[in-house]
Amino acid sequence: MNIHHLLSARFSQAIQAMGIEDAPIPISRSTRPDFGEYQFNGAMALAKKLKQKPRDIAEEILKHVELQDLAEKLEIAGPGFINIHLKNDWLSHWCELALADAQLTVEKQPTQRVVVDYSSPNLAKEMHVGHLRSTIIGDAVVNVLEFLGHDVIRQNHMGDWGTQFGMLLAHLSDQLNKSSVAETALSDLEDFYRAAKVRFDNEDGFADRAREFVVKLQSGDEQCLGLWQQFIDISIQHSEEVYQKLNVRLSRDDVMGESAYNPDLPHVIADLSERNIAVEDQGAKVVFIPELANKDGDPAVYIVQKSGGGYLYATTDLAAIRYRSKQLKADRTLIFTDARQALHFKQTEIVARKAAYLREDESYEHCPFGMMLGKDSKPFKTRSGETIKLSDLLDEAIERAGVLINQRESNLSAADKADVAKTVGIGAVKYADLSKNRTTDYIFDWDTMLSFEGNTAPYLQYAVTRVKSIFRNANEDLNAFRAKVTVESAQEHDLVVKMMQFDEVLEAVAKEATPHLMCTYLYEVASAFMRFYEANPILKSDVSEENRASRLGLASLAARTLETGLEILGIQTLDAM
Ligand code: ARG
Repeated sequence: MNIHHLLSARFSQAIQAMGIEDAPIPISRSTRPDFGEYQFNGAMALAKKLKQKPRDIAEEILKHVELQDLAEKLEIAGPGFINIHLKNDWLSHWCELALADAQLTVEKQPTQRVVVDYSSPNLAKEMHVGHLRSTIIGDAVVNVLEFLGHDVIRQNHMGDWGTQFGMLLAHLSDQLNKSSVAETALSDLEDFYRAAKVRFDNEDGFADRAREFVVKLQSGDEQCLGLWQQFIDISIQHSEEVYQKLNVRLSRDDVMGESAYNPDLPHVIADLSERNIAVEDQGAKVVFIPELANKDGDPAVYIVQKSGGGYLYATTDLAAIRYRSKQLKADRTLIFTDARQALHFKQTEIVARKAAYLREDESYEHCPFGMMLGKDSKPFKTRSGETIKLSDLLDEAIERAGVLINQRESNLSAADKADVAKTVGIGAVKYADLSKNRTTDYIFDWDTMLSFEGNTAPYLQYAVTRVKSIFRNANEDLNAFRAKVTVESAQEHDLVVKMMQFDEVLEAVAKEATPHLMCTYLYEVASAFMRFYEANPILKSDVSEENRASRLGLASLAARTLETGLEILGIQTLDAM
């Protein structure tokens, strides 16, 4: 059930009944509790159009709108707003529907095929903190889309191709000649990359050999491809270990790396050249983009082939667009990378539309994110200034959570505590990232993210375990619980309205690819639950049978909303902590 949709439909019917067609139906959440929960604010615009007084229009709408079943009170306020106060009977009825519904009454959306391009690390190096954001934000958005019934295709557009592999393969070939096993040589990709780079910069003849390797690789030389494959396999294994630790559902089947498009690139260039979309410019093939001209009116230059014949990141992205549109039949593509690539994707989309590589109704959305900063507001690095390996960061999270869990009073066994530390530590890192508006930079701070207070994973995880323990004490099954719920107190009213808004929040996250809206929402649900629980005891002996059942019903819904929301964000919950 989506309150916003429901109200829109009712107001739309009323306005049509007044003989007005195609009027916009602006409905928003009220900003103050005394204004009710929702507000219709379309009367002013209608009045202007019809040359009448807004309040008169609002009066007229009230005569026509059918809201008896869900609104307690409708009132005209200010210049002609209509405030809507939802009815407790309707809220109670919803609770019963939601208790019996695994989807918590969330409506499926008309199915779209959505390609989500996320994580996409460069395989020459180990995954570092920069890939954390793409991986977990992308994964959360995938989950939201799937929950709403979309057909999602994950695409891990790994950087597994390009000139840097010449240097890496030349180095690997030498290492293997020295009889070291590939796994051992590549056990630390960071070290391996560094060693290759040192040789490339300093050793006579090595750079030339590296370039030969690039040529051999691109011309499909068997031996060279074999070496490359070994490198890629081991590197993907490293990424998979990180995905597992992160509880992200990317698998090998989702890998569609840059190399996969290599055979298409000459065709893309031929096609763009034939149609005069790409032209020669100083030996290179470029597309001029007048839409993105500089101050002097010169069009932006988008290179699709270098003067030596080499292809670029951009060429591959055009090939990817063609593949996703034609083969995968995407209706919508979402790509998660840091904001520094915004211009690249803007240009890519313009060129792809020029070439009709995207269907007219197909949307292509770069979803940029800001940087992860240290407490000093500088890019997050180790003390000695090196990039932090994601794998190390996650181990540290688990360790720090372990220290906190051991300080807390509990009768968990050591093994259970270790489990809790894992769930809390990983959850904290993921949630801290997801809860920030993705477009801005954010400061990575262990103490805040691991706190049991505030908008954090531990706070929400704890709220869930708290309800679970209420159900254990009541000897009831939380997920199978059914009851007649009667919404009475102000706290109950607020909690239920909040829980009913789950659908609206999912809709917004799916539209804008902004999981932080879900985080804010879950925090509000948890806070509303805590206020309800303080004011309305559940298991005290003087609580009547009906009240106890009704309140347990609300507690069950609150826990299920939190748990479902967290699960969608990729954050696990616990029975006890
Ligand atoms: N490998 C790239 C990077 O690490 C991200 C790729 C994003 N996807 C794409 N289709 N370009 O920056």
